[in-house]
Amino acid sequence: MRHLIAFVFILLTISNLSAQNRTLVAYYSYTGNVRSIVDELKGLTNADIVEIQPAKEGERYEADNYAIGSALISAIRENPDKAESYPEIKPLSVDFGLYDNIIVATPLWWSNMAAPMQTFLFANGAEMAGKNIALIVSSASSGISSVVADAKRLIPNGKFVGEPLWINNKNRSDMPTLLANWTKTLDFKSNMTEKLYITIGSVTLTATLAENAATQALVAALRESPITYSATDYGSFEKVGPLGRSLPTANEQTTTEPGDIVLYNGSQIVIFYGSNSWDYTRLGKIDNATQQELKAALGEGDCTITLSLSAENNSENQNNSETPTGIRQSDRTATPDGPMYDLQGRRISAPVRGQIYIQGGEKKFKFSN
Ligand SMILES: Cc1cc2nc3c(=O)[nH]c(=O)nc-3n(C[C@H](O)[C@H](O)[C@H](O)COP(=O)(O)O)c2cc1C
Repeated sequence: MRHLIAFVFILLTISNLSAQNRTLVAYYSYTGNVRSIVDELKGLTNADIVEIQPAKEGERYEADNYAIGSALISAIRENPDKAESYPEIKPLSVDFGLYDNIIVATPLWWSNMAAPMQTFLFANGAEMAGKNIALIVSSASSGISSVVADAKRLIPNGKFVGEPLWINNKNRSDMPTLLANWTKTLDFKSNMTEKLYITIGSVTLTATLAENAATQALVAALRESPITYSATDYGSFEKVGPLGRSLPTANEQTTTEPGDIVLYNGSQIVIFYGSNSWDYTRLGKIDNATQQELKAALGEGDCTITLSLSAENNSENQNNSETPTGIRQSDRTATPDGPMYDLQGRRISAPVRGQIYIQGGEKKFKFSN
């Protein structure tokens, strides 16, 4: 069968793989150099991997003084906007919606990106808009600036992250070290909208994080494991408790609003259901909750709060195998006494006491059993 699906998913089960930060490695390799790089990469990342393969098997691109390879690159150079200029590749089925980060690993051919990889990006570059893109290029000796330009042309709205990694015949023996160091420099997270999940009893709220050194440190800690702490009710406007670690501070005089999450004294986290003015470092804000809903969710008096980066990490949600779908989706089929959803958009059979849930397109609160 000529058009075999050549889609190889290698799912490496590393505990912290989450839908918020998944990485895809897309690679092409003719003589095996890029494949070796990707093999090495497997031990360094928890990425899914897809291999691009030319539809025409057994082609010898280097024959007759690289005549075929040269012709393929010339055709693309002459008409880069036409699909016919690109050599056919085997069909692939990649759900780009699953990924925030894409590492493109490719050989260099005649100063440009190898033709089959160009085909893949020509066909799929639009779907990579807004994603973090990192580039690995392997050549014998030629510099890679035109390959970088190809990548930017083919993924016009990608967020290119870090310096491309260039492996060539001079540094190839150091590839494992170069690759390990390069992956450490990739700061995929800084371009990401990381959600914070806040669980109080049976209620889980989401919050959008501010972008600063404190939230970066908090996210790094939460990638290791969720944080559970005891919070005290203070001043009838906040729940405050120890994070168990210090975060970098950038305190400024702030008048808080309900839903604001701040760092106080470097190591105390405060969630507001009311307002106060003080020197705080901003951490984020709870999404789409009214003051009444916040008060109900946080309860009266002291409480135990768990922070995590994924709904899967909170014990209440572990029993629920449905993937979060977002509240809007549930609203589309809403009827007043229709299906009920939690704040992550997962169908629930019945709300428990104290839970905020969605029914008939409206947020509701379960007061008593
Ligand atoms: C058709 C073709 C053209 C190439 N052109 C160049 C070139 O212009 N400059 C260069 O340094 N290497 C060139 N190379 C060598 C490859 O870039 C290099 O060997 C790369 O590591 C191959 O990766 P791979 O083994 O994963 O296919 C070319 C290779 C092929 C097959």
